[in-house]
Amino acid sequence: MQMITQMLATDLDGTLVGSEEDLRVLLKYYESLDEKVSLVYVTGRHKGSALDLIREAKIPMPSILISDVGTGIYVGTDLKVDLEWEHKMKSNWDPEAIKNIVSKYPTIFPQKLPNESRISYTVKEDNDSVEKLKQELVLSKIPHKFIFSSGRDIDILPESSGKGSALTYVIEKYVDTNASILIAGDSGNDEEMLSLGYPSVIVANAQPELLAIKDHPKLFRATQNCAGGIYEAWLHFYSK
Ligand code: GLC
Ligand code: MG
Repeated sequence: MQMITQMLATDLDGTLVGSEEDLRVLLKYYESLDEKVSLVYVTGRHKGSALDLIREAKIPMPSILISDVGTGIYVGTDLKVDLEWEHKMKSNWDPEAIKNIVSKYPTIFPQKLPNESRISYTVKEDNDSVEKLKQELVLSKIPHKFIFSSGRDIDILPESSGKGSALTYVIEKYVDTNASILIAGDSGNDEEMLSLGYPSVIVANAQPELLAIKDHPKLFRATQNCAGGIYEAWLHFYSK
């Protein structure tokens, strides 16, 4: 694949997808530019579910798909799995040990997923249990990364994965050093990638846990929702 020279790395649900009119305006704007803006989708969904959404929402196929909260990376028009990444991030991953611990929490339910490169759960209005589980996993010393989004989704990932780590890997491997970059998100699992220090946008409709994150010089807080916020931020950083 050719090195990317302009990139929008964006979450899907609630960020790129969620406001149809704004989405069409943004895509039309990108089509009107002389230089291609490569789309990198960075989603909590697994690959099949991401492809369903791409079809349903009628958005272009991405140049790169980062799936499963930054545990899967698929590259190019045929979305070929990046095996180097898969190998690297799974080196100290022990999902069975983690599942044993989580199974003691009656209000935390496993999500059905096609593989165990991450394990995810759903919880309904029980932040106390989420906090307890988080502490217990830290004390267990089992290598992992714990991410809580939208007051509902718990993702437990290999230690060296996550949207921020996966995107850093993608930028180093596939993106030109002088590229124009914008990173966009709306919920807790986006915090890591929005905090890398690149030009980034929190869309106006973001979840409270994301609105509360620390500022950095290139973090833009949009006044518009979803794709409208992305458009606003792209013009803020890159319109001449
Ligand atoms: C998406 C995924 C889900 C994940 C959540 C938060 O909804 O489908 O598996 O837990 O994002 O990352
Ligand atoms: Mg989202």
